[in-house]
Amino acid sequence: MQTLEQLKAELKALGAEYAKIKDVPPAERAEFGRKINLKKQEILEKIKAAEEAALEQDVTPIDITAPAAPNQPLPVFLPSENGSKHPLMTELDRVVEIYQMMGFDVVEPRQLDDEFHMFDSLNFSKGHPARDGYDTFRTEEGYIPPAHTSTMQHRVLKAYKKNLEQGKNIAVVVPGRVFRNEDVDATHEHTFYQCEGVYVSKDCTLGNMLGILREFFEKYYEQKLDISTQPGYFPFTEPSLEFKIEKPKTLGGKKGEFIEMLGCGMIHPNVLKMAGIDPTVYHGFAWGGGIDRLVMLRYGLKDVRYFESGKLNFLKEF
Ligand code: DAH
Repeated sequence: MQTLEQLKAELKALGAEYAKIKDVPPAERAEFGRKINLKKQEILEKIKAAEEAALEQDVTPIDITAPAAPNQPLPVFLPSENGSKHPLMTELDRVVEIYQMMGFDVVEPRQLDDEFHMFDSLNFSKGHPARDGYDTFRTEEGYIPPAHTSTMQHRVLKAYKKNLEQGKNIAVVVPGRVFRNEDVDATHEHTFYQCEGVYVSKDCTLGNMLGILREFFEKYYEQKLDISTQPGYFPFTEPSLEFKIEKPKTLGGKKGEFIEMLGCGMIHPNVLKMAGIDPTVYHGFAWGGGIDRLVMLRYGLKDVRYFESGKLNFLKEF
């Protein structure tokens, strides 16, 4: 069998044959041309077959059981110039960075949690109708893909309780993926991202929370913003609020046009108590809001479904 190089050389040589057509007597030209074309077709087919064979040989199977090599110098695992970071991850990094600049620690949630962290530790009493809004998917074993990042509140409070004992505060954000049994449309996805915030100290107030949130949104949208609140209901906060920002002017927002960005409130005494924190000594506030919506607003995106779609045309715009 000829090699790919030999075939390509043959194809090139055939090019010279075409040049000879003008020297062939007119009566024979058609036949001459037909023969060259046939030959060309034949070579092209052989090239195609040879290229496919070469490709097959080139596919080295990936050993997915191979151990990681953490001690090898980078860039062992870094991809080549192909591919890029998902826009949501880039934005999530920005979100986290803003909170870190304000002194917050960052904790990652799980993508599979349990009944206790999803409901009981958040003061949802058994059979309370508020459970319905968060009752999403379950595995056959009864584990729950979390419907909100609040599932981490109890763990954060317990893990950081030592800060309070040392006279410091608890200040933690939890960015993560959440899942809901939604009717999917342009503004609802079954899988999306949230960022939770938890703050506890002896003397913090709702005013401090609003200050932190306004600071966050002004940094994220890089402009001054008005904020507004209205009463809400969450079993794990008392009082509970819906927090709104003025729609950014850069996105065509008009004076007095507000959009809801997150739920928040003062952490319910029962939630603190369950984590072993004395609610007569310490107070806390918490908030949680969607990242997808935040990003959509920043870039003027109209359809949340693009994020999980894997559409390259969309992803390449970032
Ligand atoms: N977890 C709530 C949701 O997804 C939002 C929320 C409300 C988070 C109040 C909080 C909070 O931390 O205190 O609907």
